[in-house]
Amino acid sequence: MPLFYSIVYLSVLLLLLFVLARTAYAFFIGAPILYTPKKAIRDGLNFCGVKAGDKFYDLGAGSGRSMVIAAKEFGAVPTGFELSPIFFALTKLNLIFSGVRSYDLRMDNFYAQSLDEADCVFCFLTPKAMKKLAPKFAAELTSGAKIISYGFQLPDRQPDKIINNGYPGNVFCYTVE
Ligand SMILES: C[S@@+](CC[C@H](N)C(=O)[O-])C[C@H]1O[C@@H](n2cnc3c(N)ncnc32)[C@H](O)[C@@H]1O
Repeated sequence: MPLFYSIVYLSVLLLLLFVLARTAYAFFIGAPILYTPKKAIRDGLNFCGVKAGDKFYDLGAGSGRSMVIAAKEFGAVPTGFELSPIFFALTKLNLIFSGVRSYDLRMDNFYAQSLDEADCVFCFLTPKAMKKLAPKFAAELTSGAKIISYGFQLPDRQPDKIINNGYPGNVFCYTVE
């Protein structure tokens, strides 16, 4: 029996370490967990004209709130990447309880994912992450695709619109040429 308990204890410890390590990794290479105000998400999606059937990507899904809003209110098909198992699980639950049926959620590093099918990319990251993403956006997003960034601008292009309707950060909206 002591061996059994040792194995259970070790497994729980390893699982906990895995969860914490991935969450910390996401913090260092992307951004810590903070949520975009729902109104800011809606304003960005409205300005960018996101419509039914559009492929909407959230780079760092967090709680999944942008995926839910894009799907339920705009009819888009959301894809989310989330490195942290905690926030991956939260996003999954949010999608299920919100009744979103068609979505793609992956516990993956968004820097390593292809964005070429996206009609609209959403993110709330850091200036460092935006700098790193700029060449990826330029290389992979197709002409006409939209980028919505809450809080931080892309270093290499001018936004079509900067929106602020009373929330703490600005919403930067871009169209890929
Ligand atoms: C500031 S939060 C934004 C959450 C959500 N997009 C929102 O706007 O409410 C950033 C999220 O990105 C995740 N993240 C950071 N770097 C990542 C990466 N390279 N790949 C996948 N997820 C990442 C973090 O775990 C965190 O949940």
